Amino acid sequence: TRTPVTVTVTGAAGQIGYALLFRIASGQLLGADVPVRLRLLEIPQAVKAAEGTAMELDDGAFPLVSGIDILDDATRAFDGTNIALLVGARPRTKGMERGDLLEANGGIFKPQGEAINAGAADDVKVLVVGNPANTNALIAQQHAPDVPADRFTAMTRLDHNRALAQLSKKSGVPVADLRKVTIWGNHSATQYPDIFHAEVSGKNAAETVNDQDWLENDFIPTVAKRGAAIIEARGASSAASAASAAIDHVNLWVNGTAPDDWTSMAVVSDGSYDVPEGLISSFPVTTKNGKWEIVQGLEINDFSRTRINASVTELSEEREAVRKLGLI
Ligand code: NAI
Repeated sequence: TRTPVTVTVTGAAGQIGYALLFRIASGQLLGADVPVRLRLLEIPQAVKAAEGTAMELDDGAFPLVSGIDILDDATRAFDGTNIALLVGARPRTKGMERGDLLEANGGIFKPQGEAINAGAADDVKVLVVGNPANTNALIAQQHAPDVPADRFTAMTRLDHNRALAQLSKKSGVPVADLRKVTIWGNHSATQYPDIFHAEVSGKNAAETVNDQDWLENDFIPTVAKRGAAIIEARGASSAASAASAAIDHVNLWVNGTAPDDWTSMAVVSDGSYDVPEGLISSFPVTTKNGKWEIVQGLEINDFSRTRINASVTELSEEREAVRKLGLI
């Protein structure tokens, strides 16, 4: 029998946590033959609710779950962890300025970065879901100097999946026959979903669709503002789709992308595509043997360049803001 993989989920009592934990427990995160040990991290006020979720996990009688711990202490929650899913974050509330939001989240992601640095397993992989995800990931990474920087990633796979869904609707081609969609930049309204390198049944997507008006005025805003549209329709923010994207992100990172495809993930920039070094920005990424690589050599047209630059500028500003606040 295999040794269980320790998976820590923060914000375990929240709505994404509720959708995510059952998919992890069923084997969809790492594989149907990989036992998992779950660590649920919550704030003290939400521990009771997390216990409720854990009761339901028990009642799922998942054969792969070798144990569940519920904790309100980051140091213990990340001790020996292999996969850290940082979902819990401080949401923006009415009247909150961006600086307040960054500061409140700094208070969460700085100690969590330190705890990962202190005790996580050597092979730890970190996915930040909690918003502002890219900058929260940067804060955590900056406080984990002993962990390789490439282990800290932020989630743009939900945006990637949203782009696939919209492209499928427009082209009439099922998602299974779509490849190489890319999300560039920040997981925010400035993100740039790019179909100039994407493929629809093996043919170039932008050429196949051949509809610049749709691309500019429908596709890009629909993908970028989908989160708000879900809130409007559902009365709550996207949760099951976010959990599903987190499963995709980690599963692909661990088990590899298909040879003819890539995924989108926000990773630390090495200066590729003129994204300033050190920013955690979304790129087209291939993965193999648990390591990611930014896809190189793509030609970026002027339309794409302007949009990538706008999102990356926003990330630079967020980095400047957290520097000024002394969070990194
Ligand atoms: P939620 O409010 O239902 O749950 C968040 C949970 O985090 C709460 O139970 C809260 O007690 C907990 N929490 C807060 N601070 C914590 C800390 N220091 N340690 C551990 N737990 C803590 O929120 P929901 O819907 O589950 O969303 C979670 C985050 O994911 C939000 O920041 C949301 O904006 C973000 N999100 C990101 C997406 C992406 O594509 N990157 C997509 C959808 C949501």
